[in-house]
Amino acid sequence: MATPLASPILRCLLLLLIAFPSHPRATAAAGPAPLSSSPFDAALGKLQTRIGYAFGAPDLLRRAMTHASYSRENGRALAVLGLAAAQSAAALGTLAADNDAAASAVSRRASEAASEAACAAAGTHVGIPAIVRVASRTSASAAPVICGALRALIGAVAVDANSTDAAVEVFWKLHVLTAASAAATAAM
Ligand SMILES: *[C@@H]1O[C@H](CO)[C@@H](O)[C@H](O)[C@H]1NC(C)=O
Repeated sequence: MATPLASPILRCLLLLLIAFPSHPRATAAAGPAPLSSSPFDAALGKLQTRIGYAFGAPDLLRRAMTHASYSRENGRALAVLGLAAAQSAAALGTLAADNDAAASAVSRRASEAASEAACAAAGTHVGIPAIVRVASRTSASAAPVICGALRALIGAVAVDANSTDAAVEVFWKLHVLTAASAAATAAM
């Protein structure tokens, strides 16, 4: 190493480079945020794998999976966004497939996709009843609870990604998975 070029200044720079690596996140050697500190957090980890989306801000996911009966910090506001994103995805899907689709058809598809039946089925399929936090007198497997949590999940993805595109992707993925599983069940 000791070349004539190794002036004190160069040596200083070298020391700085060693002390402060150019990739500051390399110091996060502990790996991903501790998401397995409780059964709830472990379930949130699995949920992210199932929906194929990893949250940058896991608090959003935590909030989405919290019913209003459990905490004032809950997923209701996120669910408003999730519902709008689901309707928009279904309306776009209909018009993308057929530019000439009638307003009534677009409207019907949008309300079907966002219906309580559809979202409760998708939410159940992805395991929400076993994850969502509710007060002891509230049933985590009631359709409105599952549905609210699923919509909040879609909304949380949109906020986390700062884009409804990511949310719409998760929405379609859940729909396709749920439809496939319903078809498989019907075939048995
Ligand atoms: C979110 O996206 C909008 C529109 O692209 C952008 O203007 C805004 O700065 C973004 N916000 C954050 C927090 O990244």
